[in-house]
Amino acid sequence: MMDVALSSLVAALPQPVLLVNKQGFVQAANSAATELFSTRIMGAQIRAYLRQPDVAAMLERVLAGQTEDSASFIAHSGSREMVWKVVARNGLAEMFVLSFSDISDIEAAEAQRRDFVANVSHELRSPLTVLAGFIETLQGPAGDDPAARAEFLEIMAEQAVRMSGLVADLLSLSRVEAVEKIRPREPVSIDMVLKATLAALRPQIEAASIRLDYDVPEDLPDIPGDYDQLVQVFHNLIENGLKYGASGGRLDVSAVLIPALPGYDCPALRVGIRDYGEGFDPIFIPRLTERFYRIDKARSRDSGGTGLGLAIVKHILSRHRGRLIIRSAPGEGSKFEAVLPCS
Ligand SMILES: Nc1ncnc2c1ncn2[C@@H]1O[C@H](COP(=O)(O)OP(=O)(O)OP(=O)(O)O)[C@@H](O)[C@H]1O
Ligand SMILES: [Mg+2]
Repeated sequence: MMDVALSSLVAALPQPVLLVNKQGFVQAANSAATELFSTRIMGAQIRAYLRQPDVAAMLERVLAGQTEDSASFIAHSGSREMVWKVVARNGLAEMFVLSFSDISDIEAAEAQRRDFVANVSHELRSPLTVLAGFIETLQGPAGDDPAARAEFLEIMAEQAVRMSGLVADLLSLSRVEAVEKIRPREPVSIDMVLKATLAALRPQIEAASIRLDYDVPEDLPDIPGDYDQLVQVFHNLIENGLKYGASGGRLDVSAVLIPALPGYDCPALRVGIRDYGEGFDPIFIPRLTERFYRIDKARSRDSGGTGLGLAIVKHILSRHRGRLIIRSAPGEGSKFEAVLPCS
């Protein structure tokens, strides 16, 4: 018979906990545990509920007398996959305790970190391969041919620029992440941010030979922000418009004050960068702000892109309690709008 103090202790624990006897029958289950396995688990054979090979093997070791062990256990709740760490401890005379902790978020973060490292390595490997190949070529007879040498050095310089671009993007991503929880407070004029960005992009704008329409009222209120980071946001959005949308021959930069917006308790600025280029299928929209995501890998890479720009934009906007709204359709160009609250 279960002692009352022990069952109230188990019931009080927030994470799923089961008390199981030496034959494997469940003697007590708290509400978190019955939520995970259903109420039928009371009195049932635990082996029937933990059949996944790792956790089943762990169970057998503990039933055979091992005092402590743990294993992972995957459960599905709705469409979500949850990863639990199951710890078995053989502390009580006739029973052992199985406790479950939800490690889904830790596992997801770990998977994300692995993906990130794999992506960075992959992005660095291709320019490095090119560089190594040309160094070898230049060390051979081709090194004595001035025309070939000049051509190869040019390609090598391009690859070096690509690598430093990637490193610069990675550093700015990590800088943005480091201060993401700290809200920026200095008053910033969006008109000044946009003018400075356009001035810095002047050479690209001229090279793209597009018409630029600038429609930003002079009396917009300042917003609390981080000037340099906001320049980064619009630098990437305008640069993207030039890189992927120049075929339309036109780029609109605009800003409006919106008195009220759902989800905000203050007025907001809506700053739009609109191009008239090829656009893209809206199914890509949710993925665009993922790190390293590019719709057309080859094309973005040719123009020196690494797919980090919009990921940085999203982080900076979220630090400003802002939002990014993307609209596009094939053949109709794209509009990227940053919504920034005024207080
Ligand atoms: N204005 C646009 N028109 C069409 N496609 C766009 C536009 N802006 C972004 N994209 C698509 O979104 C992808 C991701 O953009 P993002 O700015 O994150 O990366 P990138 O421009 O490829 O590289 P980076 O910004 O790191 O140099 C681009 O590769 C492109 O496929
Ligand atoms: Mg970009």
